[in-house]
Amino acid sequence: MKTKIALCLAVVMGFLSLPVPARVNVSKPSHVNNSGFDRRVDDLLAQMTIEEKVGQLNQLFYFKQFMQPEMVEPGIREGKIGSLLFVTDPVIINRLQKVAVEKSRLKIPLLFGFDVIHGFHTIFPVPLAMASSWDPALVEQMQSIAASEARAVGIRWTFAPMVDIARDPRWGRIVEGAGEDPFLASRMAAAHVRGFQGADPSSPGRVLACMKHFAGYGAATGGRDYDSAFIADTELYNVYLPPFKAAVDAGVGSAMSAYMTLNDVPATGNAFLLRDVLRTEWGFKGFVVSDADAVGDLVTHGFAEDKADAAYRALTAGLDMEMSLPGQSPKGHAYATSLTKLVQEGRVSKEQLDAAVRRILEAKFKLGLFDNPYADESLVATIHNNPEHRRLARIAAQRSMVLLRNEGNILPLVKGDAKVSSMAVIGPLADSKRDMRGSWSLADDMQSAVSVLEGIRTKVGAAVKVEYAQGADIARAYPSIFDVFNKPRPAPWSETQKREEFDKAVSLARSSDVVVMVLGEHEEMSGENATQSTLDLPGRQLELLKAVSELGKPLVLVLINGRPLDISWAATHVPAILEAWHPGAEGGNAIADILYGDATPGGKLPVTWPRSAGQIPIYYAHNNTKEPEFAKDFKSRYFDFPSSPLYPFGYGLSYSTFKFSNLRVSKPELKPGESTEVLVDVENTGRRTGDEVAQLYIHQRYGGASRPVRELKGFERLTLAAGEKKTVRFTLGKAELIYWSAASKGWVQDPAVFDVWAGSDATAVLTTTFRVVK
Ligand code: NOJ
Repeated sequence: MKTKIALCLAVVMGFLSLPVPARVNVSKPSHVNNSGFDRRVDDLLAQMTIEEKVGQLNQLFYFKQFMQPEMVEPGIREGKIGSLLFVTDPVIINRLQKVAVEKSRLKIPLLFGFDVIHGFHTIFPVPLAMASSWDPALVEQMQSIAASEARAVGIRWTFAPMVDIARDPRWGRIVEGAGEDPFLASRMAAAHVRGFQGADPSSPGRVLACMKHFAGYGAATGGRDYDSAFIADTELYNVYLPPFKAAVDAGVGSAMSAYMTLNDVPATGNAFLLRDVLRTEWGFKGFVVSDADAVGDLVTHGFAEDKADAAYRALTAGLDMEMSLPGQSPKGHAYATSLTKLVQEGRVSKEQLDAAVRRILEAKFKLGLFDNPYADESLVATIHNNPEHRRLARIAAQRSMVLLRNEGNILPLVKGDAKVSSMAVIGPLADSKRDMRGSWSLADDMQSAVSVLEGIRTKVGAAVKVEYAQGADIARAYPSIFDVFNKPRPAPWSETQKREEFDKAVSLARSSDVVVMVLGEHEEMSGENATQSTLDLPGRQLELLKAVSELGKPLVLVLINGRPLDISWAATHVPAILEAWHPGAEGGNAIADILYGDATPGGKLPVTWPRSAGQIPIYYAHNNTKEPEFAKDFKSRYFDFPSSPLYPFGYGLSYSTFKFSNLRVSKPELKPGESTEVLVDVENTGRRTGDEVAQLYIHQRYGGASRPVRELKGFERLTLAAGEKKTVRFTLGKAELIYWSAASKGWVQDPAVFDVWAGSDATAVLTTTFRVVK
């Protein structure tokens, strides 16, 4: 209650804040010249007091809901704040920046950051959906638009991409990544980074990217967010770290340390991760920021003695900037409150402090902030309202949807079908704009998102009477940390209302020619702090689906969600299932495009889809047991349940059909370090143009370690006209054939026979072999 009152008061104070200037004059700080950054950084470092240095390492949240500029301006003027996050209003950004570059002693600009995860003003599909497109070029395009929209308001740094491998769909943040597979996730990681940063993050429309959460956050025990991760070195190097390495190789400018403990050592004070791996092994040159209050959490984790010890442990482990929540949070501001003294006492050396500050200043120089610190407010509306952005959002949503089932080719529906004059659109996600967007949509205009109901109505026009019934209501049992950013959801229905609405929906379905049910999750049911103990469809959605299905009407299920859900019943009873994820602002239109065949589905699952939560963790790249046939369900590893997933990794249907043939390797024998080409023909054997993703898997039969039964090592999304055939070419070389070995504690390439498969998912059958010889 107390916090609520404080929050309301703070909001009211916000309204009373002084008027801010509409435009700020651009003036360059005096020390700007065009020589290399090193000398400029040296110059600055030489002038800075310890306090000013510590200030550069201090990043604060700025929540518009209960803060106003006056609360941070004194700190900025005194050089005590180096970066702010969550300011999205260009007027406030410019106002605060003006204080930094005109009123602070050394005129060092602020770095403004924000979670630009899948769009800023224009919301794109959530990252898990992006990965389902298997189209890195598309991902790059989306993130370059997201970058330009954020940059327009003065945001120069995004806390993305999240490249955590996730193999437990109970973990809500699976929605923010690229799924279970290190190869696909690495390709996606690089695409996100290129999209955000371009060739140079200072160039117009670009921002600095931040790979997160370094490292192992996706392995949270039980899928419970923030819980400890225990990851053996082999798994760490072969599965969890590769996407981070790919981001580093793509030039990512910053990294965020994770919240949790990795093998008992908190990631934020983990010298093995932040120093040995990141800097020594990988040569990372950017800077590292903590997750929110994660430095103070070194105390919570029982690692550091107190806040000062936490600051010492984090800085000396390699953590440059501390992100803190506002106010007097007992965990926050460890650097701001302790570092100066630690340096004065000699516990932290001046060199250690300078190394961290240097990395922050370098980033600010590289971003061109010293030369060009302000946003041009006059351009914001034009950039945000560029119709190309919405056009791409629609294409991206179409390309990331996965068709899971289409019995009897019920889809696509036919426009102008004489047998259809009425349609029922049913479910708690059917008429929701908000849930089209997904987690981390915090700066867009929610009203501009297109719901499924709207999309379908626009598509069919007056020819079909489209009616809606919600049928079921869904809600989290416990509140979300994001509730503060949104209008509260309507109050839960009473028992009577529940019965009435349920019946209303069923009778609407009964009186309609076709039924589209839109089920799944609210946006706050996945994402941070959104672990689910089961994968059940929340609320009475399954009951509703069963009741409608019993009517025997043509039925299509559209899923709006951020994780695989338990749809085992639907998978055998509902003829058509389209996984749309949270498809973004153009979601409703894109879904209608797919349902009516104006776009053909071609997305593929970036995760193995379990039959139920009891199968978790389940992923395709597992090792063989002593009885490999178990894995194929000849016998089950469970005595009560199949061990195979509901849908394999890489799975997804099309409105067309494809055939893979003629798999061959250019070199059946190679020496370690050499490469071979793998070629396969893919033919569209159906009657319409469609997309297929050619996927290449390998298996090393024997060697210094047991290797996964299959590993993805290449993919390409193709568009083929009916009857068209193309040859796809992959290269397998050292990078694809080495692995990190526990035996030698390093990367090895074994001489061995390798199986190769090519096909449309992880169960591909077309196979050949090659051999690596000494
Ligand atoms: C906490 C989240 O874990 C992280 O992903 C995010 O970037 C920061 N907060 C900032 O919002």
